[in-house]
Amino acid sequence: MFPVTRMRRLRYHAGVRRLVAETTLSPANFVLPLFVRAGKELRRPIASMPPHCQLSPDVLAEEVRAAADLGLGGVILFGIPPVKDAVGSEALSEESIIVQAVRAAKKAAPDLPIITDICCCEYTDHGHCGRLGQSTGRMDVENDPTLELLARQAVVHARAGADIVAPSGMMDGMVGAIRRALDEAGFSHLPIMSYAAKYASAFYGPFREAAESAPQFGDRRSYQMDPAAAAGQALREIELDVAEGADIIMVKPALPYLDIIYQARERFPGVPLAAYNVSGEYSMVKAAAQLGWLDEHRVALECLIAIRRAGASIILTYWAKEIARRLQ
Ligand code: PBG
Repeated sequence: MFPVTRMRRLRYHAGVRRLVAETTLSPANFVLPLFVRAGKELRRPIASMPPHCQLSPDVLAEEVRAAADLGLGGVILFGIPPVKDAVGSEALSEESIIVQAVRAAKKAAPDLPIITDICCCEYTDHGHCGRLGQSTGRMDVENDPTLELLARQAVVHARAGADIVAPSGMMDGMVGAIRRALDEAGFSHLPIMSYAAKYASAFYGPFREAAESAPQFGDRRSYQMDPAAAAGQALREIELDVAEGADIIMVKPALPYLDIIYQARERFPGVPLAAYNVSGEYSMVKAAAQLGWLDEHRVALECLIAIRRAGASIILTYWAKEIARRLQ
């Protein structure tokens, strides 16, 4: 009579495996990150993230239409401005590259949620996520003066037609400041997706090539979270953002932080949870696949299933189109 329980009964038949699989992936779970810069018919390859490219707004429009046709949940846009300065003024222009991109994207796919990243790092010449100063005794991003820049940027994006704004700078109070500014400007209906628990991660390396946003000195450890911090710190970050009005919360990166995703899901069951499967998570698989060391499609699917199983229902991923195609 041994063994009594046979777990393998659930596995012999492919149909039964599918029947008992509780974790599912759908193209609607995916958000595709896209990088936009000025130009026409421009596809400028991002070396560390093939086949992704920086796109001009006209090409971006095609990509956005393709994303909608595949049934993706949305796209998130990052802008590479023509000029940078100390406070990222270009981000506040009503004709900024993101404004042009949002307009083109909305025209191409009116029903697809267009999300914009709200941060200064792509627009500042020093590459940090806000205004610099010495009030702490060393050169660093000043929290409160940066809030106004973020709030103004969010209103510019809202006026351009963004459907969701996504602040990623890890400034204290950024969600509240953006919420107030949006409300005052007549956008009280516009949701905020907050990069609530964002770690100071080396996995962002390829993104900084893609967005041309690497810090020119130092690092982001005085504002992004310490990977070694107790999980409770991430939960406090999320709790504050929810209290300030975040409608959707995000954990980033995804794979090394599945414990955080899981705990966020448990602790905030009513708040939609996103996870950012970041550039480095994508590039390392891509590189290994190019060397013939692993099967990219199967590894990607396994990564995305794991993120979903941990509890994220929205996954920002550079595999969005490829995997959506396979799921169809
Ligand atoms: C901007 C921002 C970053 C990413 C998304 N928004 C870079 C950073 O914080 O340095 C990283 C995304 C990725 O690696 O795919 N603050």
